[in-house]
Amino acid sequence: MTAEVQRPLAALEERTQRVRFAHPAEAEFAAFLDFFRIAWEYEPHSFPLRWQDGRVVEQFTPDFYLPEQDLYVELTTMKQSLVTRKHRKVRRLKELYPHVNIVLLYRKDYHELLSRFGYGSVDITSLRPEQIERVLLSPTEIQRRVAELGRQISEDYAGESLVLIGVLKGITFFLADLARAITRPLAIDYLQLSRDLREGVAIRKDLDLDISGKHVLLVEDIVNTGLTLDFILRTLRERNPASIEVCALLDKAERRLVPVPVKYVGFTIPNEFVVGYGLDYRELYRNLPFICVLKREVYEANGHGQHVVTGRQESP
Ligand code: IMP
Repeated sequence: MTAEVQRPLAALEERTQRVRFAHPAEAEFAAFLDFFRIAWEYEPHSFPLRWQDGRVVEQFTPDFYLPEQDLYVELTTMKQSLVTRKHRKVRRLKELYPHVNIVLLYRKDYHELLSRFGYGSVDITSLRPEQIERVLLSPTEIQRRVAELGRQISEDYAGESLVLIGVLKGITFFLADLARAITRPLAIDYLQLSRDLREGVAIRKDLDLDISGKHVLLVEDIVNTGLTLDFILRTLRERNPASIEVCALLDKAERRLVPVPVKYVGFTIPNEFVVGYGLDYRELYRNLPFICVLKREVYEANGHGQHVVTGRQESP
């Protein structure tokens, strides 16, 4: 069971081109939302603001509705006459419909809106949005899929308890979220590996728990060639668990060199180096709330002692 990465950016862009926006700023905002994979609807709802003799004589149609945030957005320019009128409408709307969330948004505040949606660590990681090639999976898409995986695993292990084993450090966030989405009794343990070009893969930090006779679910951030997973499975099988299955958040299936049995896959992704939601490039970017492909220049030497990565597919 897997999910291809939903809604590729091209499909989002195509949709944005189909919508007839009243103003170029709206098209620009839609493209901005698409880039960060935030779902939107254009002018989906009109709110009556004033009535006369039972007829609506004034209404307000906010430019956008963001269903994932349950938020209406009205764009505005700095033009004073426009701002005043819009402020009045927003105030009236809030009086009449207090449950409705709405913001009046200036262009300069687009990125501030992102931090409200949990995208704030783009700044914390010193990553500028223009250094991101594309956002592959938004926080909402990740959380939805993790919840589905948790449901599926809980069903499959009905009546059983299990041991979740995470491979440090990329697994940090996925394991924490997945464990809370599983409604079976479970223990958590961690493995850490060392990778050496000459010596190959070895265990740097072993499990604390004895897994013999236990149902083990090995949780991986990403399966690429499958070599790492193959090594771990061979090692753990020698300890005689009752069963052992694998759950990987991401699968770069086209890069596989050795066949590995991955029962639960979050997303099958293309062969690109990704960071975020636990995945790093030289220990950076793990705390991005989304998963993205970085632009080449982020990896390339800039004359300030940074390293060059050429076609490399493995985290150092
Ligand atoms: P494999 O042995 O080739 O399957 O590689 C698996 C390991 O490589 C993962 O556990 C990650 O640590 C690392 N890795 C592979 N692809 C990526 C990526 O796109 N971003 C970050 N780390 C990656």
